[in-house]
Amino acid sequence: VGYDQAYRPQFHFSSLRNWLNDPNGMVYLDGEYHLFFQHNPLANVWGNMTWGHAVSQDMVHWKQLPHAILPYKGGTIFSGTAAVDVDNTLGMQQGDVKTLVAAFTFAKSPFYQAMAYSTDRGRTFELWNEGKAIVPNQGYDAGERDPKIFWHEPSKKWAMVLWVKQAKPGRVLIFNSDDLQRWTEVSQFDRDWVFECMDLVELSVDGDPTHKKWLLYDASFEYEVGEFDGKTFTTDKKVQRGDYGPNYYAAQSFNNMPDDRCVSIGWMRGDNHPFLTEEMPFNQQMSFPTTMELKTTADGLKLIRWPVKEIEALYDDTLSIEATDLNSAAAKLQAYPAELVDLSLEFEADESTELLLYLRGEKITYREGAFHYGNTTVPAMPIDGVVSLRVLVDRASVELFANQGLAVSTHYAVLEPFNRSLGLSSSQEVKIRKLVVHRLKSAW
Ligand code: FRU
Repeated sequence: VGYDQAYRPQFHFSSLRNWLNDPNGMVYLDGEYHLFFQHNPLANVWGNMTWGHAVSQDMVHWKQLPHAILPYKGGTIFSGTAAVDVDNTLGMQQGDVKTLVAAFTFAKSPFYQAMAYSTDRGRTFELWNEGKAIVPNQGYDAGERDPKIFWHEPSKKWAMVLWVKQAKPGRVLIFNSDDLQRWTEVSQFDRDWVFECMDLVELSVDGDPTHKKWLLYDASFEYEVGEFDGKTFTTDKKVQRGDYGPNYYAAQSFNNMPDDRCVSIGWMRGDNHPFLTEEMPFNQQMSFPTTMELKTTADGLKLIRWPVKEIEALYDDTLSIEATDLNSAAAKLQAYPAELVDLSLEFEADESTELLLYLRGEKITYREGAFHYGNTTVPAMPIDGVVSLRVLVDRASVELFANQGLAVSTHYAVLEPFNRSLGLSSSQEVKIRKLVVHRLKSAW
């Protein structure tokens, strides 16, 4: 098997063979980004949950490695996170290589949280304490899972964020630890919206690395912004959407990033077509990595997400158009067929502006201050009279970033393999400020 099947994503991660779902254990260590993932090593459908593993130097070109954590004692391995034990709190460090720890859910009723560690940069993992609990079952049976662990520098403690299932409100438990082995519950956060794969992460506000706030989000990417003191998360209780599309699920962010960025990847959860019906050797894919930042808007603090700049390594050739009318932009676009696309469009708009963008048979419409794609509405009100949209198109996905990432929409999509046509149209005179199309090379 290789990576060149008709529906194989060319710049999104998919497993060489078989099923994947949630990204797990995203962490950077010694020049490598690690992406572990919920994986069925035996079949093209969900089951036999194992941590698959891939590494990359740029979050764009991935190399799949042998599976990292396998089922044991009759339980499978559900989602979780990895972290670098920078201060050797676990005491397992060998030489100069920092220990990589992976906290996961041991999925055998009643579920508990367990840990594995690696002293060889993630090449092999040992179960900690034979895979026994680091956090025993808290009384919610199978509904407690997906531990997010991270080092909280100001309080010099490890924190774990754990979703537990109960009737509304849902619940998140927060634990602290000094040594990754003994964990103490320090607070609870109760909200209706919380559900699976919680991530709590510190983000910069308006591009200022000295001004930060915390973001808590769940698997379906609802979020709240607030303060976290190492123990308690407090917010103004305003719940917002981090993705408008139907296929962004169970995202998490890299621990131990080498720079100021916070980068997340989500599972682009799709139905089984066309992967199964077209007899693809794999099933499901990951989203393209996006940075996450907060931005002050008239409507309060909002999350902005944007494709990582490393995508530029895939740029092949480029069509670039500035300040022109719609018809001339449309003619040039039509003469520039492409398969893998990173397209940016900026146009002048008011309440009555309507515009259509065609991408390989997919149709995105702008009207009434929003982009419409399939059943999805992505808000994009003109800012100073201008609307912008960036779209990434791969063999099996379309990702929309409206207004510089203020509204993002992730779509698993069945693209016609041989359709390369791009187009733009409107019944009105629309001023195009900018249209840039990069054709992309395959990452494989
Ligand atoms: C989310 C999820 C997690 C669980 C994993 C099992 O998609 O249900 O809560 O750990 O998938 O594969």
